[in-house]
Amino acid sequence: MSNLPKISFTAGNLPTKGTVVVFCDGKNNLTASAKLLDNKGVLTKAIKVSEFKGGFGKMLDIVAPAEPELDRICIVGLGDISELSEHHWLRLGGKLGSSLKKSKKVGVMLELPEATKPVTAKQATDVGQGALLEAYRFDRYKTKSKSRPSSPAVAIHTKSASAAKKLWEGVEGVGQGVMLARDLVNEPANILTPKDFAKRAMELKKLGCKVEILDEKQMKALKMNTLLGVAQGSRNPPRMAIIQWKGGKAKDKPVAFVGKGVTFDTGGISLKPGGGMEDMKGDMGGAAAVAGLMHALAARKAKANVVGIIAMVENMPDGDAQRPGDIVTSMSGQTIEILNTDAEGRLILADALWHCNKKFKPKFMINLATLTGAILVALGNQHAGLFSNDDKLSEQLTKAGLDTNEKLWRMPLTPEYDKLIDSKNADMKNIGGRLAGSITAGQFLQRFVKDTPWAHLDIAGTAMSSPQTEINKSWASGYGVRLLDRLVADNYES
Ligand code: BES
Ligand code: MN
Ligand code: ZN
Repeated sequence: MSNLPKISFTAGNLPTKGTVVVFCDGKNNLTASAKLLDNKGVLTKAIKVSEFKGGFGKMLDIVAPAEPELDRICIVGLGDISELSEHHWLRLGGKLGSSLKKSKKVGVMLELPEATKPVTAKQATDVGQGALLEAYRFDRYKTKSKSRPSSPAVAIHTKSASAAKKLWEGVEGVGQGVMLARDLVNEPANILTPKDFAKRAMELKKLGCKVEILDEKQMKALKMNTLLGVAQGSRNPPRMAIIQWKGGKAKDKPVAFVGKGVTFDTGGISLKPGGGMEDMKGDMGGAAAVAGLMHALAARKAKANVVGIIAMVENMPDGDAQRPGDIVTSMSGQTIEILNTDAEGRLILADALWHCNKKFKPKFMINLATLTGAILVALGNQHAGLFSNDDKLSEQLTKAGLDTNEKLWRMPLTPEYDKLIDSKNADMKNIGGRLAGSITAGQFLQRFVKDTPWAHLDIAGTAMSSPQTEINKSWASGYGVRLLDRLVADNYES
């Protein structure tokens, strides 16, 4: 991982050295600290000369100002204060990070222009998390040019510093969960095989999680034949990691998250075309999000009982690989005719969901998967697809999505769509027709959850190759970690 900024919180006065960041609103009203620095009219003049307007995230960089020991003063726009929502603070932190690359020591005078509310501890820590997430680069394999030579020290000056300090450990933990998910998705498939992924899951023990790894033999004993069918074409054997965080009351039923972990998806015998196939190293984005989420929840000691199940396989063409036309019996006892070996994600999830439901009887199950290219056609990379049998869970998820800016859009599931995966030769087939590809995939999964409240998040468009934002400069976004951490925090903690 790249050099990350060292974030701290202080109630101290204006720093006299390094870079100072101050704020103004959309009408260029300066904060108190900005006014202090403007004693010789330097800021007002710079704003006028450059025709600066303090729209959200706009930045004016004043190099070598009159103060003898300050290197730079940055004025950052907050836009219309009344329009600032929660995730704006995170994005603001990202903005800071990206424009402060050259500074070693930065003091951020976090306050609003006069006569408005004070900045809360939560908002201050969100700024810190944003700066952290923005700084993430996947440059582990670059031996010659690292993106950032050192870690700048960023001191966030705020009246709520003491409360922010207390909050920070947890907030930073969530940020590390996001970066763990990014790291896992960015890693190439020769490095991150199912076994290696399982090893990384084992590391969650250090945070107090219970982790159990199922190998091929154990999965065979459990009759996870659909999962094993996908895995049988690869020299890299499959693994399933069962991660538990018990932060709630002993008798509380857990909530459960299940992730698709295809460490590489060639399509199998239904081989994918070559162009862009390298992206399929990221076909474990669902599992990565679950691992990152478990890290986040454990790091901030969430008061909830949570199960995270990740199913890791490699989908390869081979003499031993599964064929189109093969019929397999899933752990549930339902039979599946494999018509396309490239629709493999739903196959491994079928057994993982069934096992999760049977073993843990959770309050709900949410699975995450880079499941279909069709979700990219429908929603692009702004929203993940949400499929669910439960309105309440859907609403909670949608709200968490808006609050964290990891947005979801609900898609339909109906008996008419469900019919499209009925098969002539078995209970079902693993693909529908040409139409509604993301929905038929959702219908397939629904056949393995019984009446348990459940949601499927299709993150093929949001987990990887995602648009560059204020807080993400990496190919892998870590989508899902903040979203689900928030879902748990708002609705399922005692
Ligand atoms: N892993 C892919 C889906 C995917 C596509 C993820 C693009 C990220 C970006 C999945 O296993 C797959 O191959 N799905 C097929 C399903 C089809 C065979 C019914 C697809 O989307 O084409
Ligand atoms: Mn596939
Ligand atoms: Zn896949």
